[in-house]
Parts: sequence; structure tokens; C-alpha cells
Amino acid sequence: MEGALIARDRVGVQDFVLLDSHTSETAFLNNLRKRYQENLIYTYIGTLLVSVNPYKELDIYTVTQMQLYRGVNFFELPPHLYAIADNAYRVMCSEYNNHFILISGESGAGKTEASKKILQYYAVTCPTTEQLQIVRDRLLLSNPVLEAFGNAKTLRNDNSSRFGKYMDIQFDFKGEPVGGHILSYLIEKSRVVHQNHGERNFHIFYQLLEGGDKDLLCWLGLERNPQKYAYLIQGRCAKVFSINDKNDWKIVRKAFSIIDFSEKDIEHLFGIVASVLHLGNIQFEEDSNGHAIIRDGTQIKWISKLLGVHLSILQEALTHRKIEARSEEVLSPLNVDLAFYARDAVAKAIYGRTFTWLVNKINGSLANKVGFFSSDSTRKTVIGLLDIYGFEVLDTNSFEQFCINYCNEKLQQLLIEMTLKAEQEEYELEGIEWEPIPYFNNKIICDLVEQKHKGIISILDEECLRPGEATDLSFLEKLEEKVGDHAHFVTRKLADQKTRKSIDWVDFRLLHYAGEVTYCAVGSFSLTLFQVLCNSKNGIIRDCFLLSELDNRRRPETVATQFKNSLMSLIEILMSKEPSYVRCIKPNENKEPGKFDDYLIRHQVKYLGLMEHLRVRRAGFAYRRKYELFLQRYKSLCPATWPHWHGPAAEGVERLIKHIGYKPEEYKLGRTKIFIRFPKTLFATEDAFEFRKHLLGMVPVPFMYRLISGAWACWRGALARKEAKKRTWAVQIIRKFINGFINRKKPLCPENMEFVQLVQYNYLMKLRDHVPKNVLDKSWLQPPSILEETSELLQKICIRSLVRKYCRGVTAERKVQLQQKVVASAIFRGKKEGYLQSINQPFMDTRLKNDVNPKVLQLIHGEKIKYVTPVIKYDRNGFKARDRLLVLTQSSAYVVEMAKIKQKIDYATLKGNGGSQCGTSLSASDGDVILQCEHIFETVTKFCMLANKQNLVKVVQGSLQFRIGSGKEGTMVFTVGQEPQVFKAKNGQLTVVRPHLNTGNMTCAFSF
Ligand SMILES: Nc1ncnc2c1ncn2[C@@H]1O[C@H](COP(=O)(O)OP(=O)(O)O)[C@@H](O)[C@H]1O
Ligand SMILES: [Mg+2]
Repeated sequence: MEGALIARDRVGVQDFVLLDSHTSETAFLNNLRKRYQENLIYTYIGTLLVSVNPYKELDIYTVTQMQLYRGVNFFELPPHLYAIADNAYRVMCSEYNNHFILISGESGAGKTEASKKILQYYAVTCPTTEQLQIVRDRLLLSNPVLEAFGNAKTLRNDNSSRFGKYMDIQFDFKGEPVGGHILSYLIEKSRVVHQNHGERNFHIFYQLLEGGDKDLLCWLGLERNPQKYAYLIQGRCAKVFSINDKNDWKIVRKAFSIIDFSEKDIEHLFGIVASVLHLGNIQFEEDSNGHAIIRDGTQIKWISKLLGVHLSILQEALTHRKIEARSEEVLSPLNVDLAFYARDAVAKAIYGRTFTWLVNKINGSLANKVGFFSSDSTRKTVIGLLDIYGFEVLDTNSFEQFCINYCNEKLQQLLIEMTLKAEQEEYELEGIEWEPIPYFNNKIICDLVEQKHKGIISILDEECLRPGEATDLSFLEKLEEKVGDHAHFVTRKLADQKTRKSIDWVDFRLLHYAGEVTYCAVGSFSLTLFQVLCNSKNGIIRDCFLLSELDNRRRPETVATQFKNSLMSLIEILMSKEPSYVRCIKPNENKEPGKFDDYLIRHQVKYLGLMEHLRVRRAGFAYRRKYELFLQRYKSLCPATWPHWHGPAAEGVERLIKHIGYKPEEYKLGRTKIFIRFPKTLFATEDAFEFRKHLLGMVPVPFMYRLISGAWACWRGALARKEAKKRTWAVQIIRKFINGFINRKKPLCPENMEFVQLVQYNYLMKLRDHVPKNVLDKSWLQPPSILEETSELLQKICIRSLVRKYCRGVTAERKVQLQQKVVASAIFRGKKEGYLQSINQPFMDTRLKNDVNPKVLQLIHGEKIKYVTPVIKYDRNGFKARDRLLVLTQSSAYVVEMAKIKQKIDYATLKGNGGSQCGTSLSASDGDVILQCEHIFETVTKFCMLANKQNLVKVVQGSLQFRIGSGKEGTMVFTVGQEPQVFKAKNGQLTVVRPHLNTGNMTCAFSF
């Protein structure tokens, strides 16, 4: 806790308790916004965690993060779900009690994600054995299965849970997870047959069609295309960008095998899923009597096969109803509308009950079986996770929304009871001064819904169960009569002029704590038409529709009452456990990351009661414990209470805290509990206790009492001395630093010695990270003046070492290449266009695609060929072009035509050469040879190196004189034009035209 009080995040405060103006909603919102914009989505109000949905993946759920939070005091690290999870776990382990984490917030606020993250946290951080791995895997994998069958895309959330879930994780005395149990609440069955625009049916339908293999679909009589199924396309968004049905299908299939589903179970399960789809495609038409008949028999045949029910009985059940007439059952035909209604009712019922079956099946696989393997019958403790659908206001709110919102009212009440009210009442009970804080208690709304005989549910029950036709309007009239004067209930008839317009004749409106919701009373009554299913051959259906249910002559419970009762027992379960709270907030309606909608959030802050909660926390005490527990834990800190205190616990605690020196403002003593105001007080006590435990472990018993008496004072004294020592040391260091800085320019002396050393050290350490990495990198860190010489030396050493490293890395072939490139550079650098671009192109030993003709090899007497390239040779007189090869050996150059040597030039006879921007000529004693070649830099370099005459090459501009045999001279002119060409001009000169910047096809003239 101390950590949280001292350490503030970079942005805002990490515990609202630390806000300066803790009563201002604006300050609250500002803090939330600031943090949200920095991706700090979690903030505490004391021990309650407020979470804002980031709508993007954050890097805060890694295993490293989990390890970080594991076993650390709650307030020592920034707020996180893991801290809540870890705290509940540790308290459970140390106090052997049960806990639950209540995650609440409206649809899309991040509840389900939070519960999954908590589960993952336990899976990763709790100790486990190999035997228990399977429990862990099943706990984790039950989620994707439940989500596939119980979640759907809604307008608010692409993966909205359409059922409430309470999951217990069971731990043994070692803190190992040994089992689990799931309770599910009211799956939204109406979704099976109807979806609003932009929403989908439950994921599993799409997953099956998208991912199921061909044989399976064939067996189920399904087509892959969801557009073919009436139950899947009403929302007009069967495909959703953010959902990968195919992938999810694979996960679900894998999960089935881990959580113990047999092939038969899976077969039956998908038989039911497929039947629902087939049911949706059944169409009815009127016969001549106005009775409904099924239009096309295909679907019904599939259903009869998959559910294992008799075709004709099924057909009859869908188009008739049984009525009792004078103790006889008579079949009465339905009209088309009622037949559609019956069809949808069957679809909803089989899906809903199958979901319950699924949950039970999963529970079977999660059940703690360790006891069977070992003789372990020790006590188990549990941590429950409650992820229940959030408060919902839709355009049309049906019975299901009514249940959802009622559930949220109940949970809100639970929160109020367990925190706000409990807090105040406790202070009162304990006789501690307390300034009461007003809060809105929503009990009044809960009563309106659930009160016996007078509540809405009771009225609904009466209407459903009384003999005769119940209609929607009779229900509404009854409501008006019984609860019409309630401040939170309005109908059109009861409303004032202004509100009347917004309420339909069949609607009633409740003023919930979270806002107003108008419910449609139509369709609240369910139809019973399922006898036929009791005889199904599909095992799951048979389990779900028990014959005994039909025999039951008692008045059956309505769905509303069932829901109410299950809620009551949930609340009972929760009341018996230690709570932790996560309040989720939805930042905007568009699922957009980073968008903080002030209006929307302010509303949630209000109805989640966060401001009240903050005010209570601020006014209250951080920690409280029963005297007995407190004394039990800390009695070793006082000789009077150690090892046994024989008087009343309260007096023992008083002695104890007097001994350890609590100041009056740090605590209050209640009737049964001690209240500690500041977390730091508690932590100091806890630290002393840890220290003492350590001592007790080491010291022989006779010395123990003496040690105990002085220990607390000793502990505080030691802490203070340590602190003072640290401060003196810091002052000395700072003083030295300033002195050194002032005298830094002086020659080395005691005043600046350490400063200079520090500067040197820093420079060298920094240099270590910034030394050049390769020979071409010329950068070097600027040294402080005192290190200039050293830096220069170091730079030289560094360059030398890099060069040496580089040289060592050069292969023999590369070395030859580089040597040739050096020669080429000496000849052409800065003289010939295109040279720079050619540097990167490696020189080759041959430019021929084939080998040199063997005859030529014979003719040169086996001399080793060092280089060969195709060239064009120009006659000296007519300048006719001829294809030739230029072959270079160690001693001579040969101009070769096919298998004939046309000319041999001994390097010794070579006189010199000249060249232009695009050509070269070599002079030998008996006239010049004019050649054109493609790789001029390479050819000339090779030539020069072999002849060892590179200084004879001249690169010339414009024109070049050459000798034509017997003393006559010719001129070669170089020009620039569109097309490269070589021709004899009218004036008899050899004209070489090159295009602009052409570097590839060079013309070169050698003269000999
Ligand atoms: N902590 C989180 N990090 C990233 N995304 C989240 C987080 N919490 C929620 N979301 C996003 O919000 C969506 C809705 O969250 P969900 O838990 O399903 O809402 P709820 O259960 O409250 O209706 C999720 O599908 C996910 O995309
Ligand atoms: Mg959810």
C-alpha cells in the first residue's frame, strides 16, 4: 500500500483515493481520461479496480507480467487485474476462506476478457502437478466451448456473452487448482430464432458451417453457405471481419477432446445444432381449411433423422396442439402464424436446454477428482469469477432484457450491501465516528421486480399460471393495478403528457439505477410443445426433455421465477465469500481504441456508484481486522502477548500496539476490530513481523523473550539510522560533484580528481557503445578536452583493428579482384565517364559463354589463357567491323577468328596507348589494332596488368591519332549522339558515336 501512496504513475494517480478533489466527478473523469490516453487502463479505488476497455491489444498480459505480480503486496505495483487475482489467491491461501471476483459493467465493457485473463493468471502462476495439468487445461478450454455456444456478435460487442456465468475454481490446501464448477444463467434463447440488424446468431452455427469438414456437413444435411439458413441471416452480417469462424471451430473441436466429450456426444450435439438450422428453414402454408401444413418435407426429414424422432409425430407436433377437453386429449390444428410460433419455440427450447446440458457436461469434466486418486480429503477453498451480462438497453427490450437488467440491479445491490452500506454500518456497529455518505440504494427497484405477491415477477407468474387465456394486455393491466403507484414504474396510461408518446400501449417502463428501459410485454409467455422430444433417440435431447417433467402435475415454475430463484441462490453463494470487485467501463460506442467519450463514461461512473465508493474509501480506514486475528498474527512483536495472551483479545491488541508505538491518529479501536487508517502503518507492522519470524527461526528459545522486548524499537531505530546514513552520504556526493565541476579546468588536483575520473569513465563507457563498427564508418565520439589525446590514439587503434579485421576476412579471389580494381582506378579514375558506376561490377576471367576453340589452344602452345572476351575489330583502312576474340595470356595478346589466330601481339613490342572519353588506342611497333569491346575497364585493366604497362594508357578527349601500317596515320573521332555507332565518315575519319552516359558498350581502340 505504501508503494501506491508514494509512487504515482507518470500520468494521473493510480488510486483515485489519492485525488486532491475526491468529490469532483470532473476530476475523476480527468484522471481516468489521462490514464486511458496513455494506455493505463486500470485504476484503483482502494481495493476496487476500475478498468476501461482499451479496444486494442496491450502488452500487459505476458507471462513476465504475471510473474511480476505474483506474491507481491497488492499496492506495490501499478494497478492490474493480476493484482486483484493475486490478492484474492493469497488471502485465500493464508486465511483458508472463499473468495469471489465480481466483474461488472455494461455490455462490451470488457468483463469476459477480464475473467479470461484472471483464469489465465491462475493457470500460469498457481503451483500445479502433472496430474493437475489436465484440470488446468480443462478450465481454460471450457471457455471457447461456452463462448461458441453462448456468445454472439451484437451491436455492442462482437463477442458478447449471451448468458451469465459464475465459475468456481477450487484449490486444495497447497493452493493448487484441483477442479472447477460453472453455473450458467438464462441463455438468451430468442437469439436462436431472431437477430436484430447488425447482429448474429450464436457463434457455433457459423463455426460449424465455415469449419466443419465436408463429410460432417453432408451427414448433417447442411450446406456450407450460411445465407441458406433463415436463422442466420436476419442480422445481415453472417460474415464478420473481426471473427475467424474457421479458426474458432478448430479450437472448439480440440477443446471437446480435452474436456472429455465422446464422439457420440459430439455427434448428438451437432445433430441438434443442425436441426435448429433445418427448423428455421421449415415453411408453412395454409390448406383449404386455413390450417397450417408444412410446405416442403426436406427439412423435417433431416430433423427427424438427427433428433431421432418419428417423422409423422414431429410433423404433427409442429402443426397441432393438444388441448384437454373433458379429461381427454384432443389434437387441434394450428393456423400458419401459430405454427411458425411453435417452430421457433421448439428451436429455442432445444438450443436452450442443450446449452444447459453442455454446462453440466463441462462441470462433470471439471469436477475435482483428485480425492478419488489419493486419500486427500482436506478442505478445499474456492475463488469464484462472476461474469454476468451487463446492463442492456435495446430498441426493443423483451423479457430477456428484463431478466438481464434485473440481474444487474441485484448485483448492484450486492455491491452496495457489501461495500458502501457494510462500510458505514460497520463503523456504526464498531462505535467508530463516521460521517454518513448519501448513496442511492437500489433496493427499491429490486423489490419492485421480485417482491412476493406484489412484485412484477409474481404478477407475471399469476398471469401465466391462472386458467384461461393470458394475454399481454391483461398482464399489463394487472401491473398497472398492482405496482402502478411505484415511483420507478411507468406505462403509457400512467405517464404524463410528455413521456406518453415514447411508450407504446403494450410497453411498461422501469426506471433502473442505470437508466430508463422500456420493455415490451408482448411475447412474454412461452408455449409447451415438447412431449415428442422426450422419446428422442438423440441422447442429449433425451437428457434435456425428461418424461418425468411431463408427469409433474404440480404447477410448473415460470422462466421468470426460475431465473429469480437462481439469482437468489447466486447472491447467497456470493454473500458467503470475500469479495473483490472489477468495474469495467466502455469508453465509446464504436469499439474504437483511444476514444474517450466523456458523456458515456460519466454516465457509467455515475451508475456504477464509483464516486460514492471513492468517498467512502477516502473517509474510512485502509485496513481492519478482528482483534483475535490481528493478535494471532502479530503477537510475537510484544513480550506481553508472546507466546500467549490470556486476557481478552482487544486488550492484548491495545498492549501490542502501545508497545510497537502506533500513534493515536494511525488507528481506532472498535468493539471487535482494530481499524488502521494508513497503509504504511500496516506495512511497517508487517515488515517487523517478517523480521521477527526470521529471528524466531534462528534464535534459541531462552534468548527469545529478551529479543522480542527490544525488537520493535530496534527495528524502527535501525530503519531510521539506515535512512540518516543514506542521506549524509548523498549530501557528500553532491557536494563533491559541484566542487569538481567548478575546478574541472584546473590541472589535476584533489578537488577535481573524482570529477575528472567520472568524466573520463563516462566518456569511455559511452565510447564503448559507440565505436565504429566497420572500416567505412568514420564517426567518432567527441572527447572531452582532457581526453583528446587518448581519444586520438584510441581512434587509430580502432581503425587499425577494423582494417586488420577487414583484411583478414578477404578471400584470395576477392584479393585478386581488389588488386585489379586498384589498377583500374589508377588508369580511369576521374578520367573516364562511367568508371564510378563500373566499380561494383566484378571483373571476370572470361566473357565467353563457351570454351575457347581447342585448336586455338594448340596454336598458342598450351599457354594458359588469362582472359578472353569477344571484340569487334575494325580494319585499318576501310574500318570494316569483324567479330573476333581477344585472348590474353601471360606473354601475349591474340586476336582470334574462330579457330585461327589472326594476330599475335607480344607485350614486349607494345609501345603505348591512348584513349578518349569512350575509347582507347594502343601503339605497337608495327601499326595499331582498333578493337571495340563491351567491358572496357575490365579488358584494358587485364591487358595492362598482364603486359605490366599501365603507365602507357592515356585517356584522351575528342580524337585520337593512330598509325596505319607503313607510316600513315589515321584519326579516330569520338562524338555523342542518339545511337551508338562506329563508321567511316566522309572525310575518311573513323567516327565513334556514343549515346549520353552510355557506360556499357564501349568502343576501344588499341594501336600497335
Ligand atoms: N483488456 C482488454 N484488452 C484488449 N481488448 C479488450 C480488453 N477487454 C475487452 N477488450 C475488447 O472488447 C471486446 C468486448 O469485451 P468483452 O469482455 O467481451 O465485453 P463484455 O463481456 O463486458 O460484454 C473484446 O472482444 C475485446 O475486443
Ligand atoms: Mg461478456
